[in-house]
Amino acid sequence: MTTSGSSAEALIRLREVHKVYHMGSTDVHALAGVSMEIMPGEFVSITGASGSGKSTMMGILGCLDRPTKGDYYFDGQPAGALSDRQLAHTRNQSIGFVFQTFNLLPRTSARDNVAVPLFYARKVRTHHDALEALEMVGLADRAHHAPSELSGGERQRVAIARAIVNHPKLLLADEPTGNLDTHTGAQIMMIFHQLHQRGVTVVLVTHEPDIATQAQRIIQMRDGKIIHDGPVEPDRRAQAMESTRVLAQQKRNRESVGT
Ligand SMILES: Nc1ncnc2c1ncn2[C@@H]1O[C@H](COP(=O)(O)OP(=O)(O)OP(=O)(O)O)[C@@H](O)[C@H]1O
Ligand SMILES: [Mg+2]
Repeated sequence: MTTSGSSAEALIRLREVHKVYHMGSTDVHALAGVSMEIMPGEFVSITGASGSGKSTMMGILGCLDRPTKGDYYFDGQPAGALSDRQLAHTRNQSIGFVFQTFNLLPRTSARDNVAVPLFYARKVRTHHDALEALEMVGLADRAHHAPSELSGGERQRVAIARAIVNHPKLLLADEPTGNLDTHTGAQIMMIFHQLHQRGVTVVLVTHEPDIATQAQRIIQMRDGKIIHDGPVEPDRRAQAMESTRVLAQQKRNRESVGT
């Protein structure tokens, strides 16, 4: 422990981060002084009412956006000192995103959707790597399906495969189960747990308490500020994870009966 409360090895470090959106004559203070750290390998949930600043925070953590004021250090690097090009590189190499609405290219196969970040990274074995990522989410047999030929849960699994295809250190998920039924959401959560067990740092925004408690730690936001930040009690976490495992298993059983 360092006496300053901050440590060199944090993957994410925010220091008094503000984000102000100018809307005509009014300013929206979406983040109003946020400081926190996330260590490599942590699984953290972010909760809070609509408009509390969760997605704004995710945009900054993911280097999609810059703070109006304050500092963001990603993996020890001050993001503010990086050019847009360098930020894009960091995003491509080290950060994966999953959104509520999947954001897949519509007329493009699952495999080619997953391969998109590989092109930006100028990788050569794109088919091989994309198929490997699809396999990880259990969708190798859907590689040639377009998003319209996939269920909601399958689309989200393609989006996860795309997010992990470059083996990022950090996986950011903004309400990834928000458009899915409970059983399908449980399947998605099982994939996040697997990735976390493999060492990926996971930060997940959710409105659902049953999902939030599957993380090791919950950050709660209100009006652009963190109002609570603490660990999930291990028994509660284990219970929530067990319920999720059962729900995901039920869905698999139903699917295997249907085929
Ligand atoms: N691009 C933008 N331009 C102007 N205001 C914005 C913009 N993005 C967000 N805001 C405002 O900033 C505040 C925080 O928004 P944010 O999207 O971060 O909330 P959220 O916690 O993710 O909410 P939700 O749960 O509804 O997704 C809100 O008041 C919102 O209206
Ligand atoms: Mg949001």
